[in-house]
Amino acid sequence: MDSSLHLLFISVFFLLRIHPGSSQNGTISEPDYRSLLSLKREFVDLRGVLKGWNDTSPEEACKTWIGIKCADGRVVFIRLPWKGLGGGISERIGELKHLRILSLHDNALQGPLPQSLGRLPNLRGVFLFNNRLSGSVPSSIGNSPALQVLDLSNNRLDGFIPHSIASNSTRLYRLNLSYNDFSGLIPIDLCHSPSLVFIALQHNNISGQIPDEFGAKKVNASYKLQSLALDHNILSGKFPSSLSELVTLRDINLSHNRIAGGLPDELGSLSALSSLDLSNNEMSGPIPEAVGMLTNLSVLNLSSNRFAGGIPGSVRNIGGLTSLDFSGNSLTGEIPKSLANLSNLVSLDLSYNNLSGAVPSALVQRFNSSSFVGNKQLCGYSNMNTCSTETNPRNESQPSSSSSSSSSSPHDHQKSLAKDIIFTAAALILLFLLLICCVLLCCLFRKRVRNKSMKMKHQQQQQPIRRRRSEGEPGYETGGKLVHFDGPFVFTADDLLSATAEILGKSAYGTTYKAVLEDNNEVIVKRLREKLAKPNKEFENEVSHLGRIRHPNLLSLRAYYLGPKGEKLLVYDHISNGSLASFLHGKGPENAIPWTVRLNIAIGIARGLSHLHIEQNTLHGNLNSSSILLDERNSPKIADFGLSRLMSTSSTTGDAVATAGTVGYRAPELSKPKNSASAATTKTDVFSLGVIMLELLTGKSPGEEEANNGVDLPLWVASVKEEEWSGEVFDAGLKSEADLGDHRFHNTLKLAMTCVDPSPAARPEAGEVARKLHQTWHGGDGDEEEDEEKPKPL
Ligand SMILES: *[C@@H]1O[C@H](CO)[C@@H](O)[C@H](O)[C@H]1NC(C)=O
Ligand SMILES: *[C@@H]1O[C@H](CO)[C@@H](O)[C@H](O)[C@H]1NC(C)=O
Ligand SMILES: *[C@@H]1O[C@H](CO)[C@@H](O)[C@H](O)[C@H]1NC(C)=O
Ligand SMILES: *[C@@H]1O[C@H](CO)[C@@H](O)[C@H](O)[C@H]1NC(C)=O
Ligand SMILES: *[C@@H]1O[C@H](CO)[C@@H](O)[C@H](O)[C@H]1NC(C)=O
Ligand SMILES: *[C@@H]1O[C@H](CO)[C@@H](O)[C@H](O)[C@H]1NC(C)=O
Ligand SMILES: *[C@@H]1O[C@H](CO)[C@@H](O)[C@H](O)[C@H]1NC(C)=O
Ligand SMILES: *[C@@H]1O[C@H](CO)[C@@H](O)[C@H](O)[C@H]1NC(C)=O
Ligand SMILES: *[C@@H]1O[C@H](CO)[C@@H](O)[C@H](O)[C@H]1NC(C)=O
Ligand SMILES: *[C@@H]1O[C@H](CO)[C@@H](O)[C@H](O)[C@H]1NC(C)=O
Ligand SMILES: *[C@@H]1O[C@H](CO)[C@@H](O)[C@H](O)[C@H]1NC(C)=O
Ligand SMILES: *[C@@H]1O[C@H](CO)[C@@H](O)[C@H](O)[C@H]1NC(C)=O
Repeated sequence: MDSSLHLLFISVFFLLRIHPGSSQNGTISEPDYRSLLSLKREFVDLRGVLKGWNDTSPEEACKTWIGIKCADGRVVFIRLPWKGLGGGISERIGELKHLRILSLHDNALQGPLPQSLGRLPNLRGVFLFNNRLSGSVPSSIGNSPALQVLDLSNNRLDGFIPHSIASNSTRLYRLNLSYNDFSGLIPIDLCHSPSLVFIALQHNNISGQIPDEFGAKKVNASYKLQSLALDHNILSGKFPSSLSELVTLRDINLSHNRIAGGLPDELGSLSALSSLDLSNNEMSGPIPEAVGMLTNLSVLNLSSNRFAGGIPGSVRNIGGLTSLDFSGNSLTGEIPKSLANLSNLVSLDLSYNNLSGAVPSALVQRFNSSSFVGNKQLCGYSNMNTCSTETNPRNESQPSSSSSSSSSSPHDHQKSLAKDIIFTAAALILLFLLLICCVLLCCLFRKRVRNKSMKMKHQQQQQPIRRRRSEGEPGYETGGKLVHFDGPFVFTADDLLSATAEILGKSAYGTTYKAVLEDNNEVIVKRLREKLAKPNKEFENEVSHLGRIRHPNLLSLRAYYLGPKGEKLLVYDHISNGSLASFLHGKGPENAIPWTVRLNIAIGIARGLSHLHIEQNTLHGNLNSSSILLDERNSPKIADFGLSRLMSTSSTTGDAVATAGTVGYRAPELSKPKNSASAATTKTDVFSLGVIMLELLTGKSPGEEEANNGVDLPLWVASVKEEEWSGEVFDAGLKSEADLGDHRFHNTLKLAMTCVDPSPAARPEAGEVARKLHQTWHGGDGDEEEDEEKPKPL
């Protein structure tokens, strides 16, 4: 599939818009042309990226100018990220009345944001992050009614955030003003936006209270906010209880502010909340039992506040909690034993409180002393502070003299030795040494902290931007619809449509592209052949099933897009190492692939397939080595599964191929005359799995044409006498391993041959293949790894 990688860079937008028959006016309009030339004049283009933008050729502008996309002679995209551009952005950008996307992120642009940006009626996406823009944000920017994404993060912008920023942009989805020098208050209008999903204002100098207006009940519309990042500002006041009415919230980060007061009980209604970070504030009072109602929480950080009282026992109800940090408060009482029931907890920090009693032994086994230090009356978490039992009270009051380095009260120590001058002197010297150590450490630490914070802005410039997940969020696109399943980042329909795309391959079902989104995240986009796909409603039913399938060996479907003209796009994770086909057949003989790598690939595929068959009741239908992708550790991910479910069953002539698998991998019963019910089954998938195993063992490609080094693999292997297997059959890269007469290679080959048995009934199920492979090579029954996949014995 991807063996012939076309080096063709286009935008997904154009894949959709340019239909045969729709006329395209190539010549740029006069005002747009003048505007682009003014933009160029104000940029400082040291690398000469914009050399081609010259005034000799208006008719070329839309066709060849780098970074420009037009529609009907009007500029719709300017995309010039990572181009080393300096200088400023010309005011005359305001003449590009049809501009939809302005993307100049990761350059060295200076000066103010053009006022005229707010006069662009079609503007949807503004990506100017990672530059050196300064001055304030023009208040007119909120006037662009189509605006969906405004990302000005990591610049040197200052002044107030304009109140109108969200009031006229009823489609604003993501607002990112983080890492600037904004001051003043959080604009109340932000709280009224019916469309905002992400608000990122962290690392500024924003003061005042968090507006109480955030509560959804006070505003009427459907509030969609999922992520609220306000950390590293100077916000004060209380934690507004109205915030808890935003039941869609997933992430709240208020760390490093000056928020005081208690945590309201109402918090418990944030049932979707998955991370809550209130660390480094001035909050006080008890931690309410209501935190136990946050059952979807995975990160809870209340460290460095003034919370008092006990650790609420209800915390045990948060089964998915992975990280819990209550350190640096004034919590008292014992550590509830039930904390040990949090089986997913990987990080626990209760240090520096006033907790007392014995640490539950189940916790001591899982967490080391750094989770508990700094609680004077807490014991039993390390050898040095065993709990004083009734028989041995001295143990606590008089720690052995050798432990003075960890003792937190050197005064007692000194007193008890006062009689003996020598010992006193020794203790004093020790103390003195300790002090010097402390001072040295302090200096070192502060230096490091300073270095770190200086690096912070710098790093921000290089790191790929990760976006938070979103689920079931329809995007706002002209007539189109984008639906996300869970995933590592979220994008709008416009992000997707304006992505740069590169064709990876074509198949019976459609064309596959690699698309690079505005923030440099990569996804795989599959455009289905419209004529073959099911009608929208049925399609959505089926695709939402596929979107829920998650397994380490199955490629995750992250989103789908339905275009206004019936276009259907599927968006998948991008996997770095390409397909198994190119991995196996695209290398020279000098790059022999070791058997362990091949074996892991085979086991992974069998497991993925088994999960698909048994847990998901879904067939693959077209398994071949091009539809197996490898990640950076060469762990396989099966792609393209279940696509036949998205296709209409009334496939007309010629499309039969689409449902019957790829030549070379197709089970014999599928090639029989059409009279019989020759439909795909789990056994036809297993046949394809068998062929892939043969491919891994022999290194040969089961191609369509004999001329192309392709062979009918099952037939070919069967034709070689079993006694001659080692010499003839195995891949040259494996011969040295297989030649040793290792019977396990023979057993594996036999297993593959049963998978390609002409009789479907003789073929094993995929789960059995996985288990046998594991047994043969890793011993045991391999059950521990397969438990989850094999609920029922076969
Ligand atoms: C093409 O665009 C130019 C400039 O905007 C305009 O003058 C011309 O009429 C357009 N032609 C068509 C066929 O739309
Ligand atoms: C103008 O740009 C075109 C490419 O767009 C290039 O071929 C041509 O040489 C340039 N002309 C001048 C005068 O730089
Ligand atoms: C906002 O921008 C910062 C810095 O560029 C980035 O780290 C963060 O992920 C962005 N957040 C959102 C929600 O876009
Ligand atoms: C919103 O748009 C309307 C019409 O363009 C304008 O009159 C109004 O002043 C705008 N509101 C803000 C707060 O800019
Ligand atoms: C932040 O704001 C405070 C007052 O609100 C001001 O004193 C301080 O200088 C500001 N800091 C920066 C870095 O702008
Ligand atoms: C929101 O309130 C406005 C008037 O304040 C009203 O016109 C609109 O219908 C309300 N929307 C909903 C969803 O209740
Ligand atoms: C909150 O923000 C701080 C600083 O930006 C970051 O270190 C921390 O990981 C964030 N918390 C969560 C839960 O994401
Ligand atoms: C719980 O949080 C996860 C993200 O961590 C999210 O995918 C899921 O939808 C949330 N569950 C609910 C019920 O909101
Ligand atoms: C909690 O927040 C503090 C301060 O922001 C941070 O140092 C600490 O690492 C966080 N805890 C966890 C477990 O992330
Ligand atoms: C902790 O889990 C065990 C079994 O998993 C259960 O018996 C016990 O009641 C639980 N304790 C609490 C406090 O929930
Ligand atoms: C916690 O301990 C500190 C010093 O160890 C003490 O000053 C403080 O009063 C204690 N707080 C409570 C609530 O016991
Ligand atoms: C405790 O374990 C953490 C990692 O889980 C490690 O970073 C830390 O250094 C350990 N502390 C001690 C005192 O062993």
